[in-house]
Amino acid sequence: RKPRHPGGHMATKVQTEEAVVEHSPTANLETDLALEFLRVVEEAAIACGKTMGQGDRKHADQVATESMRGVMDSVPMDGTIVIGEGERDEAPMLYIGEKVGKRDGGSYPAVDIAVDPLEGTNLCATGSPGAITVLAASEKGGLLHAPDCYMEKIVVGPSCKGMVDLEAPVSHNLNVIAKVLDRDVEDLVIIILDRPRHESLINEIRKAGARIRLISDGDLSPGVAAAMLGSGVHAVMGTGGAPEGVITAAAIRCLNGYMVGRLVGYTPEQGERMKDMGISDPKRIYTADDLAPGKNILFAATGVTDGPLLKGVRFFGDGVRTSSLVMKLNKSKVRFIETVHVDRRPDVKVRIPER
Ligand code: FBP
Repeated sequence: RKPRHPGGHMATKVQTEEAVVEHSPTANLETDLALEFLRVVEEAAIACGKTMGQGDRKHADQVATESMRGVMDSVPMDGTIVIGEGERDEAPMLYIGEKVGKRDGGSYPAVDIAVDPLEGTNLCATGSPGAITVLAASEKGGLLHAPDCYMEKIVVGPSCKGMVDLEAPVSHNLNVIAKVLDRDVEDLVIIILDRPRHESLINEIRKAGARIRLISDGDLSPGVAAAMLGSGVHAVMGTGGAPEGVITAAAIRCLNGYMVGRLVGYTPEQGERMKDMGISDPKRIYTADDLAPGKNILFAATGVTDGPLLKGVRFFGDGVRTSSLVMKLNKSKVRFIETVHVDRRPDVKVRIPER
């Protein structure tokens, strides 16, 4: 495989003369940080959006990572990267275990963060659809510390909750999905990464008669789309990155979708380390609730190139437009956010977005 990228409030004591007020450890994590994380993914998308089509995926990833890291440090949180650009010795920033957030002595919520500063580095480098900047956050322990291996998964929408099974024959899963969606198997659209490892899966889906959209990269945003009505995606199947799987799970929880996943393709060393990461049975089949078990979950993504979920970054004379998705589990909010980042100029003009 190509090398992968090489909570809550801390009990805050407000001291007054009469009393000491203890704030709940997780009370406002989602509300306090949603717009902050929006800034993080927007700025990263603008940074790497400038590199679109330049053919240099490493550079595209680097600028997204640097931007994300820089903006994170203005966020009022006591953040820890639990899924990031790699281990400390292989990634200069946003590595697993790195502390991020404003460090000005304030008392801020402790937050675990899973980042993919540029999901679909090749897509950005070639100007192809579907690249996004993305992160998920939760209170401490709210996101599985998955190693940088692969995850075999099936992602579906709310109507298929509990209905698909990684161990069942592909045709069974397709029949079930078609039945609950009240259509024929032939009407389904299944998204799969175009990889040799998926040869038999693709053959089985073809044999069952479902339609397939093969993608060259970026299975995270189709997974999110599969959990939304009207996306034209009925399921994502096959094996992608495990970090992407955990971030997908965070989105699936916010959207009341369903996902099953199993870690695969890990090295013996990663297998050993999983125990330290709290994974006792690496062969276990996880649901989204297991992969992102947090009570508070935030998901934020911005489109870099146009995709199934979000428009890409658009540069124009007076600024930049971005399209983002910000979701809060506890507060039950799914926000599609169009932002105009206006240049600071005396003659600047802003156009009404398409309606
Ligand atoms: P990058 O953004 O790191 O390039 O990864 C993109 C991606 O296509 C993911 O969406 C997917 O889960 C994973 O890589 C698949 O890995 P591989 O390319 O090794 O099959």
